[in-house]
Amino acid sequence: MQQIIEYLRANHERYLDELKTFLTIPSISSSPEHKDEMQRCAEHVAGHLNDIGASNIKVNPTRGHPAVTGEWMGAPGRPTILVYGHYDVQPVDPLELWEHPPFEPHVKGDKLVARGATDDKGQLFMHIKAVEAILNQTGELPVNVKFLFEGEEEIGSPNLTEFLRDNKEALKADVVVVSDTDMWDAGIPAICYGLKGLTFLEIEMIGPNADLHSGEYGGAVANPAEIMARMLASVKDESGRIQIPGFYESVQEQSEKEKQLLGKIPWDEEAYMKRLGVEELWGEAPYSAMERAWLRPTFEINGIWSGFIGDGAKTVLPSKANAKISCRLVPDQEPEEIEEIVKKYFIENSPKSVKVNVQRFHGGKPFIVPLDNPYMGAAAKALNDTFEHELYYKRGGGSIPIVADFKEILGLDTLLVGFGLPDCKAHSPNEDFHIPTFHTGMEAIVRLMYNIGEL
Ligand code: BES
Ligand code: MN
Ligand code: MN
Repeated sequence: MQQIIEYLRANHERYLDELKTFLTIPSISSSPEHKDEMQRCAEHVAGHLNDIGASNIKVNPTRGHPAVTGEWMGAPGRPTILVYGHYDVQPVDPLELWEHPPFEPHVKGDKLVARGATDDKGQLFMHIKAVEAILNQTGELPVNVKFLFEGEEEIGSPNLTEFLRDNKEALKADVVVVSDTDMWDAGIPAICYGLKGLTFLEIEMIGPNADLHSGEYGGAVANPAEIMARMLASVKDESGRIQIPGFYESVQEQSEKEKQLLGKIPWDEEAYMKRLGVEELWGEAPYSAMERAWLRPTFEINGIWSGFIGDGAKTVLPSKANAKISCRLVPDQEPEEIEEIVKKYFIENSPKSVKVNVQRFHGGKPFIVPLDNPYMGAAAKALNDTFEHELYYKRGGGSIPIVADFKEILGLDTLLVGFGLPDCKAHSPNEDFHIPTFHTGMEAIVRLMYNIGEL
């Protein structure tokens, strides 16, 4: 072990340089102009798998962006882990808020700044390099490893479910390991044992057949922007409770065991407000901010637009209004059911003065991973032996849509052992990765592999 750790430490600089190169590829999955870059990025990942001595490496075409697979299967009789990550990243806008171009990685203090640095290229890369270190130093791994790196996570993994179904045999494993979530803080690791699901919709309200003179027609005709605002505002009552009938119907309440576990977390609302620059928090009563963020389903407006939003003034009564909304779901809410009731709410409650269209984007199921499986213990020990502070078990408000399918299709539980920091600015301008955590995290991954190998 010591030898491997020393090898990792001796290679800090090279690993960081290699990660920087990986981060120069603009692998934005949502934008059609980046299709070639997605292919290039997949091939780049496959190249790394080749360099560390993995076999059976494939850049698998899908209906969308390719999924990269590879494996090292030289430990017969030992468990097999399926390492999942995503090489696609979120769009970079607003570009003007980046201090350096998003795909020109640069080091600022102890952070590496670039789009995808934490989410998820940096974290995916840690697994490749941990395997490199073990193989380089010992010539073998303590476990069998299969890699699955997809290019469509940030758009809801629309083609990966089918890929799992079609490759069930090839993906056979004992447990999935994913680094795509957050630690509690620098030096304080966490295992995330549950994530939210998602339903993403766009609502369009169309009123008059053209934009109108707001003086000539204002007051006489309903304004779609106003109707949209009223309808969106009506979704929650004063105490933050969602009023859409049936919304909370399948929500699981917190178990006693979970209350105990989460009770250990030093969630500091003051510090949280300060970090976000807000004077107070708000949300569904009577839940705490932690409960609202991790355990309760939500309804958020992601964007609203209508009418004239250019410089200066234009007196217009818009013909239509749009809003993008997302609901984050918790077990046992089903994305399709929530989609239906939200759609129904808007269609049935909007006045006749507007025509309502609802379009569906991606979705994903919520999940909770059982805490009592032996792999959890192996992961916990690896984190505790590596970081100075003991880990916390937490849940998260984000989504990784494919994880529920790992259970449903492959029958596998997932270990979410993430190395992002809460202030890493994932999805935002100047996303970064804490460099010391990048290095220490790889040591934890090495230990995790040995711990699982001993099960
Ligand atoms: N890595 C995140 C998910 C995440 C981050 C979970 C931090 C927990 C803590 C992932 O890349 C992500 O952003 N997922 C999207 C999914 C969506 C686009 C389908 C999300 O949560 O918005
Ligand atoms: Mn991610
Ligand atoms: Mn993401």
